[in-house]
Amino acid sequence: MTIKPLNWGLLSTARINRALITPLRASARNHLAAVASRSQAGAEAYAREWSIPKAHGSYEALLADPEIDVIYNPLPNHLHKEWTIRALAAGKHVLCEKPIALTPGEVDEMAAAAQRYGKVLAEAFMYRHHPQTLLARDLVEQGAIGRLQLVRGSFTFSMKTDTNIRLNPEMGGGSLWDVGCYPISYARHLIGAEPLEVFGWQLTGESGIDDSFFGQMKFPGGIYAQFDSGFRTPFRTHLEIVGSEGTLTIPAPFKPGLEEVITLVREEKMERISVPARELYIGEVEDLADCILTGKTPRMTLADSRANVAAIVALLEAAQTGRPVRLPANNI
Ligand SMILES: NC(=O)c1ccc[n+]([C@@H]2O[C@H](COP(=O)([O-])OP(=O)(O)OC[C@H]3O[C@@H](n4cnc5c(N)ncnc54)[C@H](OP(=O)(O)O)[C@@H]3O)[C@@H](O)[C@H]2O)c1
Repeated sequence: MTIKPLNWGLLSTARINRALITPLRASARNHLAAVASRSQAGAEAYAREWSIPKAHGSYEALLADPEIDVIYNPLPNHLHKEWTIRALAAGKHVLCEKPIALTPGEVDEMAAAAQRYGKVLAEAFMYRHHPQTLLARDLVEQGAIGRLQLVRGSFTFSMKTDTNIRLNPEMGGGSLWDVGCYPISYARHLIGAEPLEVFGWQLTGESGIDDSFFGQMKFPGGIYAQFDSGFRTPFRTHLEIVGSEGTLTIPAPFKPGLEEVITLVREEKMERISVPARELYIGEVEDLADCILTGKTPRMTLADSRANVAAIVALLEAAQTGRPVRLPANNI
């Protein structure tokens, strides 16, 4: 029996779309059916460029298209909540870009809408689905580095323009929302708990967003995380996972390529471990299809997304007030 593939619609002509186009085309269960833009001409030009069958000249028209099953929402951060809820209300499943929203309350509204309309909603944290992340978590859980004590991560790049959505405070700009969200998410994932208390400093750019952020988080059981994010230093990614018996080092933790090697140092011996190859963005596409077609829970749950947003909000508050911020015990 052949199953009809899920028809996906791209909500805008965002640059990040191109990361999803290849995996959507590679997947037998998914089909890239349409793109929408705020102008018909923009949608048509994009559809021609990427050979997408349908072009809608407004976001509303895409949501009203009865042939579309799934909406990919890569809008600027401040529009994630509104358009995700509108898509859910229109009867579509949604894969929403990170950060899924800008407050825990917004995530609650989105989760309530997914529940109300009976549709799947997940945050597009693609790295969570990659074999490298699964391997790192398995190694930590199996005790490869002993008792986990510290996770240290960095994600920075050099912003070449002054008109990017990431620089606009009204659009949820700032390095913490944009790239700091990754080491925070990775640390929470490996530790398997939520921070009790956070503190951070920011370097504020001309537009008022954090151009760079330097943060730390205290977790239950004497486990700590430290990270930096930023737009003003060259591209850097790194994750170091430190335990009582050893250290695991991941050079490309958030955007792994097809040939990654991670390093485990234990009892002064270094082991280089090859990561199984997998295209980075296929995992989130296949996981969403699994959820829609089989009823499974998304690997990236909304509770997990909510806790990440709560940690980011607390870190920003700490940087702005100059005081550590304790998180509510129910931040899960
Ligand atoms: N997971 C990842 O690897 C990854 C990587 C990069 C970005 N992202 C996320 O994806 C999202 C988009 O990032 P991007 O760099 O692709 O953004 P972008 O190229 O600036 O695209 C954003 C799109 O939103 C639409 N839009 C609607 N209202 C807008 C407004 N007021 N101002 C500007 N654009 C508006 C525009 O499309 P139309 O003109 O067609 O309507 C625009 O092309 C962000 O949430 C970001 O965090 C994720």
